[in-house]
Amino acid sequence: MARKKQLKLDEVKTLPNVFSSDKENAAQLISEYFNNGKGYTLELGCGNGDYTTALAAEYRDKNFIGVDRKGNRIWTGAKKSLETGLKNGAFLITAIEAIDRIFPAGSVEEIWITFPDPYPRRSSMHKRLVHPRFLELYSKILVPGGKINLKTDDDTLYNYAVDGVEENNYTLYRSTADLYSETGLTFEESIQTKYEKNHLKEGKTIKLISFSIN
Ligand SMILES: C[S@@+](CC[C@H](N)C(=O)[O-])C[C@H]1O[C@@H](n2cnc3c(N)ncnc32)[C@H](O)[C@@H]1O
Repeated sequence: MARKKQLKLDEVKTLPNVFSSDKENAAQLISEYFNNGKGYTLELGCGNGDYTTALAAEYRDKNFIGVDRKGNRIWTGAKKSLETGLKNGAFLITAIEAIDRIFPAGSVEEIWITFPDPYPRRSSMHKRLVHPRFLELYSKILVPGGKINLKTDDDTLYNYAVDGVEENNYTLYRSTADLYSETGLTFEESIQTKYEKNHLKEGKTIKLISFSIN
């Protein structure tokens, strides 16, 4: 393993704003960290945590948590939050498959899924973060009407999410196959992640769908 990556992995779990599902009491530690009894907005598959840090800086009275299984990526967002004094932004190292074991029912207000791996093959469809098995987990932790937002450059993944919403009569708030062709984007919609910037450089169009399942 590259030395730089190993140094980040060694440090990340020592940071005061980083939690891990390794610890049985992760939920309690997270709740104690925020110490305000408010709900959470999650960024799933957060990588460097660009949504988490941008949202936490904009909405200082709300709680934001970036979730990823790769600690070395989380390190970047966690260090940035500490350096800029963002106490309302934290990070959780876990497989998203375990999310309902960490967050209590009704504790999550909104979910952002930012540029997840698209898993284009049918055989790996179950790994898509908007596959029904993940939506079921999200429904356990979301407040009623809690929004799920997916941002992606991938047509197959976007259409898969759109079809799922239609087939299941979920509530659709917004869907666009070309976000930046539109005017009047909200602050949230305009945040650009590391992967998003790369996709834009390659001339790809960005898609967004926002919906609720409960
Ligand atoms: C393509 S990257 C996007 C990173 C970031 N959201 C961005 O837009 O720059 C996808 C991220 O999702 C994480 N990821 C994918 N599946 C996951 C899972 N089941 N549990 C936890 N993290 C996952 C990966 O580790 C990776 O960091």
